[in-house]
Amino acid sequence: MKWIFHFLCLSFSLSVADGKVKTHKPPKIKEEDDVLVLTDSNFARALQENKYLLVKFYVALSGPSQTVKEEFSVAAGKLKKELQEIKFGQVEITQEKDLGKEFKIKEFPTIKLFVNGDRENPTDCKGVRTASSFITWLNRRIGPSAVYINTTDHYDSFVQSDNVTVVGFFKEKGNKKEYFFDAAKDIPEFAFGLVTNEDVFSHAGKTANIVTVYKKDKTASYVIKEDEFESKLDLVRLIRTYIMDLVTEYNLETQVTIFDVPTDSHILLFASKTSESFTTVYENFESAALEFRGKLVFILVDTNETRNGRIFEYFRITEVDTPAVRIMNLTTDMKYRMPADEVSFKNVRSFCQNYLDGKAKPKRESEEICKDWEKKPVKRLVGKNFNTVAYNKTSNTFVMFYAPWSKECKKLFPVWEELGRRYQNHTNVIIAKIDCTANDIQLMVLERYPYFRFFPAGSDTQAIRYTGERTLEAFTEYLEDNLKQEENQSSRETPDENKNGKEAKDEL
Ligand SMILES: *[C@@H]1O[C@H](CO)[C@@H](O)[C@H](O)[C@H]1NC(C)=O
Ligand SMILES: *[C@@H]1O[C@H](CO)[C@@H](O)[C@H](O)[C@H]1NC(C)=O
Ligand SMILES: *[C@@H]1O[C@H](CO)[C@@H](O)[C@H](O)[C@H]1NC(C)=O
Ligand SMILES: *[C@@H]1O[C@H](CO)[C@@H](O)[C@H](O)[C@H]1NC(C)=O
Ligand SMILES: *[C@@H]1O[C@H](CO)[C@@H](O)[C@H](O)[C@H]1NC(C)=O
Ligand SMILES: *[C@@H]1O[C@H](CO)[C@@H](O)[C@H](O)[C@H]1NC(C)=O
Ligand SMILES: *[C@@H]1O[C@H](CO)[C@@H](O)[C@H](O)[C@H]1NC(C)=O
Repeated sequence: MKWIFHFLCLSFSLSVADGKVKTHKPPKIKEEDDVLVLTDSNFARALQENKYLLVKFYVALSGPSQTVKEEFSVAAGKLKKELQEIKFGQVEITQEKDLGKEFKIKEFPTIKLFVNGDRENPTDCKGVRTASSFITWLNRRIGPSAVYINTTDHYDSFVQSDNVTVVGFFKEKGNKKEYFFDAAKDIPEFAFGLVTNEDVFSHAGKTANIVTVYKKDKTASYVIKEDEFESKLDLVRLIRTYIMDLVTEYNLETQVTIFDVPTDSHILLFASKTSESFTTVYENFESAALEFRGKLVFILVDTNETRNGRIFEYFRITEVDTPAVRIMNLTTDMKYRMPADEVSFKNVRSFCQNYLDGKAKPKRESEEICKDWEKKPVKRLVGKNFNTVAYNKTSNTFVMFYAPWSKECKKLFPVWEELGRRYQNHTNVIIAKIDCTANDIQLMVLERYPYFRFFPAGSDTQAIRYTGERTLEAFTEYLEDNLKQEENQSSRETPDENKNGKEAKDEL
């Protein structure tokens, strides 16, 4: 899961389909900006009619879908003239639910290439966002993915041709050459060249099979030895790592590209660039990066950049905490806190090593339970008692999740307090709140604070998202409705309760 995916909030513009549909028979599939508008009913036909069909599964109103839309259309328009065997298509999955299900679409947009009408085995087109990358990506699927560099002159000009170039040196017998070709397909933003020629080998000073990443601005080159990778994915990870700086600062541009590195682990340094200790702290972090590069992606988050606020909330970083170091396992969404305050090379290094050795413990934090938490109209929950109270079969628990510093939350406290007073005498109803910046709870949501969940009695797994208005009347009405339903249900058994509960917990 991408920890940043949910923060992307980009503006969108609506584009209107032009109605220039010619009335040939059979009627052509409708196009919108050079992209076929695919539906459940015409999808099979589109596959049949097009040797290469690049399909974008999207949600019209999602920000990330909107940003890709234009680039996708530009690429479609260009290739329409050059390569007629390639077609672009799009599926709006809130309308074409069956197609969304068939291709297991979970993120938007998701792009897949269908070749020769094969509906079963499309190729994922990941991390490609610009029109030129779409074109390169497709060209590398259809033709050779790397250019041959057969002469020393070509070599010299090739490595100067772009800011980043990747050259594979493989003598014919090199058995990992295929990984190189495959990696080139997955990294369409950069030029890939292949050297097999002895003259060029010795001109470049190479003897063994290796992959080199050249960076013009750094006049640096990074060498990946053949024994460092055992698969295409290993090689992609290493190449992508060397293309990036040792430490990547998180910002609008990199918030997307850092996820292009196929790795499950990010390490983040939270520090203010304007603080006195910054240089030292950064250097220590960078030294560790040098050692663990390729295993973890090293990211700096400037805490003196207000636009980063969402990330601090997500990692529960407050100014008091900084500088702070956290590791995130993207597969499990587990966060790990460096078990030390000082960001020294030694501390970062042993944190990384312990994590990679599987010895680091994910941090589940909780505030202390307040003494008389049960007596107040609004019960104050903490990590330690959250599960017993919320996921409790005997009580209907309605919880407000808040951040203490959030204005919107502060505004709603009096309303919530009033709701608490209304239900103070109901033995089966608990109105509660929890500071989710200070307590780790199983329920993983990345909504803007405050957010609300209802945990019905009769189930110890279910959490229902509240999406209504944030007024006393609306909260009360919602609660009453649920209490009535619960009364009705308590006379019956609810066999699919576990299923619901699981969905609720996994909702992100
Ligand atoms: C370069 O070398 C490769 C492999 O030997 C060969 O297939 C290719 O045709 C050559 N290209 C040129 C332009 O000479
Ligand atoms: C190459 O790098 C320079 C300096 O970092 C930058 O200004 C330029 O836009 C880059 N060129 C390309 C093609 O990315
Ligand atoms: C942020 O930077 C400005 C100047 O660049 C400085 O005045 C301010 O104190 C900094 N704030 C924090 C929280 O470091
Ligand atoms: C991250 O979590 C996954 C799933 O549990 C695990 O397989 C992987 O080894 C973890 N990564 C690291 C570097 O520990
Ligand atoms: C449910 O809450 C009651 C008190 O309201 C408590 O006594 C009981 O232990 C809780 N049940 C579980 C399973 O924790
Ligand atoms: C709850 O009960 C107390 C005493 O039992 C009473 O004073 C209070 O008015 C009741 N509150 C409500 C909202 O019914
Ligand atoms: C409760 O059940 C009765 C009969 O099964 C039904 O008429 C009524 O509408 C139900 N009420 C709610 C709130 O679901």
